[in-house]
Amino acid sequence: MITKLRLYQFRNIDLLDLPITKKNIVLFGENGSGKTNILEAISLFSIGKGLRNESAYNMGNMASETKTGWSSTITLNENLKLQTNLEPQLDLSLKRTSKIQGENIRSHTHFSQWINVLWITPETDQLFLDPPAKRRKFVDRFVYAKDVLHLKRVINFESAMRQRLKLLKTQPKLNDEWLTALEQTIAEEGVALAFARHLLLEDLSKFQPRGKEQGILTPFTAKMDGPFEALLTMGSSLKIEEAFRQKLYENRARDQESGITLFGPHRSDLSVTHHMKGMNAFQCSTGEQKILLLAMIISFMEHVCFKNDQQLTVFLLDDAMAHLDEHHRFVLFHRLIANQDKNFQAWFSGTDRYLFNDLERSADFFYVPDLVGK
Ligand SMILES: Nc1ncnc2c1ncn2[C@@H]1O[C@H](COP(=O)(O)OP(=O)(O)O)[C@@H](O)[C@H]1O
Ligand SMILES: [Mg+2]
Repeated sequence: MITKLRLYQFRNIDLLDLPITKKNIVLFGENGSGKTNILEAISLFSIGKGLRNESAYNMGNMASETKTGWSSTITLNENLKLQTNLEPQLDLSLKRTSKIQGENIRSHTHFSQWINVLWITPETDQLFLDPPAKRRKFVDRFVYAKDVLHLKRVINFESAMRQRLKLLKTQPKLNDEWLTALEQTIAEEGVALAFARHLLLEDLSKFQPRGKEQGILTPFTAKMDGPFEALLTMGSSLKIEEAFRQKLYENRARDQESGITLFGPHRSDLSVTHHMKGMNAFQCSTGEQKILLLAMIISFMEHVCFKNDQQLTVFLLDDAMAHLDEHHRFVLFHRLIANQDKNFQAWFSGTDRYLFNDLERSADFFYVPDLVGK
């Protein structure tokens, strides 16, 4: 677990040194005190640009006169130091640099060997109303956690798809061999990534009894939905790839005309069913949607995280207790406490400490205005 967090000139923080002793951490304090900023600094150890999806340059402390850049450093199990930082004067590209044990690494995606970060923020309240691409990204974060190759597949898949569309637009007749090769790549990577998403969601939906259950947040089923998913039941991967390749070949003219790849896993969408309601998540209330997302997180912890995992999974639950009634808060905390042997850590933020009373003995509590010194 993270045993120390150190932030320097990060957003509204000058310097923060936080020793951590527990698997649950509660950051509480008034609006604008810096809770989300601290969680964002931790989210930078995951693939991507963190929970605000912002440029590294904007993360520097705007109030600081020195503008020397910023850093976020975590220590895992008191001995492994991971750091990501920006030094604008040294790096004119304004890209952050990352280090493991003081040694530069090529990309911060290499942190995923040691740590994976998943989050629910106030923005995620919109997830089920957002465009499907956001939901696929949400699923992919879960998949990255267990499968470091998944990111590469997504990148290769999207790049081959873009190249094929470009060729179709410019010179389809001249490049038959090239098109065939690209379609082969799209088929291989596409089938692999669709399977990875499918298997992960199957794991999350495991052991979900129907009906009212006191011990779980809410029973749900999560799956990818779309015409492509039917292919996955066709038999061996090779057979499925061949069927997908054939479809891409047949669709060349239609794809060329529409300017998009009409068939593939990139057209599938996450579908979550709330069992007790018998409804799809997007028809549920805001509170019920939040509970479904938290139920996915808890299910991930229970069925996908193991105690011997080398990779730590960190959950950032930013303001996630808003909309949550006392019963569901109790169940959530109870599940976390019951699974203390798994290799995860949960960081919560909220305005009021009393929301976390059930975690009293199982969490480190920090009043953020005191930490930030404001
Ligand atoms: N780059 C930055 N430099 C300095 N302050 C910032 C920067 N980005 C955001 N802030 C400020 O940090 C404060 C705390 O933000 P936040 O962490 O979102 O608060 P909360 O505790 O409500 O989650 C806000 O007042 C915000 O304006
Ligand atoms: Mg906040």
